[in-house]
Amino acid sequence: MCGIVGYIGKREAYPIILNGLKRLEYRGYDSAGIALYDGKDIQLCKTQGKVADLETKAETEINREGNVGIGHTRWATHGVPNDVNSHPHYSNNGELVMIHNGIIENYASIKKELTNRGYTFKSETDTEVLVNLIEDIQKQEKVKLGKAVQIALNQVVGAYAIAVFDIKKPNEIVVAKLGSPLAIGVGEDEFFIASDASPFIEFTNNAIYLEDEELAIIRLGRDVKIRKIKDDKLVAPYIQELQLNLEQIEKGGFDHFMLKEIYEQPSVIKDTYRGRLLADQGIVRLGGLEDHIEKFLNADRIIIVACGTSWHAGLVAEYIFEDLTRIPVEVEYASEFRYRNPIISEKDVVIAISQSGETADTLAAIKLAKSKGAFVFGICNVVGSTISRETHSGSYTHAGPEIGVASTKAFTTQITVLTMMALRLAKAKGTISNSAYMLYLRELELIPDQVQEALLSEDKIKEISAVFKDARNFLYLGRGYNFPVALEGALKLKEISYIHAEGYPAAEMKHGPIALIDEHMPVVVIAIKSEHYEKVVSNIQEIKARKGKIIAVVSKGDTAVRDMADYVIEVPHTPEALTPLVTTIPLQLLSYHIAVLLDKNVDQPRNLAKSVTVE
Ligand code: F6R
Repeated sequence: MCGIVGYIGKREAYPIILNGLKRLEYRGYDSAGIALYDGKDIQLCKTQGKVADLETKAETEINREGNVGIGHTRWATHGVPNDVNSHPHYSNNGELVMIHNGIIENYASIKKELTNRGYTFKSETDTEVLVNLIEDIQKQEKVKLGKAVQIALNQVVGAYAIAVFDIKKPNEIVVAKLGSPLAIGVGEDEFFIASDASPFIEFTNNAIYLEDEELAIIRLGRDVKIRKIKDDKLVAPYIQELQLNLEQIEKGGFDHFMLKEIYEQPSVIKDTYRGRLLADQGIVRLGGLEDHIEKFLNADRIIIVACGTSWHAGLVAEYIFEDLTRIPVEVEYASEFRYRNPIISEKDVVIAISQSGETADTLAAIKLAKSKGAFVFGICNVVGSTISRETHSGSYTHAGPEIGVASTKAFTTQITVLTMMALRLAKAKGTISNSAYMLYLRELELIPDQVQEALLSEDKIKEISAVFKDARNFLYLGRGYNFPVALEGALKLKEISYIHAEGYPAAEMKHGPIALIDEHMPVVVIAIKSEHYEKVVSNIQEIKARKGKIIAVVSKGDTAVRDMADYVIEVPHTPEALTPLVTTIPLQLLSYHIAVLLDKNVDQPRNLAKSVTVE
């Protein structure tokens, strides 16, 4: 969480840093701050609130000239979101200024030691402790900034991506990383620093992604020197050429990123299977899977680890993998898995799913699985992310940058990859008939058009949203493949409208939640034509008998549910295993429109952040 940006070069640093912070605001938006070197002094401005508040404040409070600077947008960990706790932070002598994304776990003991030596602290943050530790080492050991940072980082426990500079030597910025992402954009005689490449993409396509436990000294008009923090070894910088473009990270005429991303689903699903799925030739192949297919075919079981929406994609995968490949699958919250001493063996294959590729719990689960000898396969959206590098192999979803904090297109593209994997493995294992295999391939190719058709219900969903926007609670029900979709629909509503919602397997309703149903309770039921259709229809009748309000997602042309439900939303037909890719669309739109009508901040819901790099 938190976004960091920096610039050192020949341009004005302020607009680059400010725009960069706006693009990284999805990472945290409790407060924002900037420090510029104007040729004489540090110009520091920080404030609780959004980057827009920082901009207003900076216009009147600081001289915004200068070619060196750093900026930060914060998701609060240590200390409440206020001006004082905002980054950047100064060291006691006022010479070092630093920004930090992550958590220094042993900050309290370091703070105590520094306090005993006369240091004082203005904020409650762990970051201010770290910058003072660096100052202290500089003084004690009489070393340059880079060395002092290295010594300090060898004393801290936790996660960090930091950028720090010394007012006495403003032609150099020192950055370092462990657990939190950090990219260095390499231009001509200029360097950019950012949590991801979006702040500098219009200036350069060349980037260095620092690895964990690496420190880089970035010198104006010169070069980037990278060292290992632990053993001081020099590392040759590896400059990657990025595929990202500016258009991909802008709203493109939509009111919100979330809506843009919902509407991108037909094309990004296609992008995700393009070149991997050739239905007319009966081929599905994913590079990362082909290289290690034996691991999967010989696996005793597959364990899927993930968090939040990615975990829901994992639940959908459990159905399709077991159904088609007959390999046992367990789906685990990464946060539980990492701490519960799970039984893992070399015969297990672990699939880690993560949009950001930075989620701390998922990363820890991967490390644990690797330490027990399991083969770990990653499904990530962000290219070059930590999880994509930590896993033995993997496949990217090609969703493009997901900026809205509530995940939408990442979910459907994750399911697309997982479905292709299940089909490939089932074919290799001989657990699927040729006709069923060919049917799935053809139907998967039709999904982008079907998602497009599902999007046509938006006006109707807007009307339904207006009716139910003031409800205090919602229930979401689904069965089989659509049980995880019910969970995902409820999560979307909670996240962006702050309405309490629960997802349940429809048949579980009678074991408790039915007690909640009265005339004030909207119940969203996924009642598409499937193996369980009749049973779900019975559930709808049970809700109706208790006067619950029914919003049903049904297969096109359904008449039975139409007669019972208060509102119906139609989705096109597809085999049951593929239905999550279409049934999830109206639920995304429902949560979006309710949140808009309630005037909530759709793209940046309170208390959340796009990538959860802390526990
Ligand atoms: C929900 C949402 C979160 C994420 C979760 C995992 O809309 O975005 O629940 O799905 O934090 O994030 P990733 O997929 O980046 O590991």
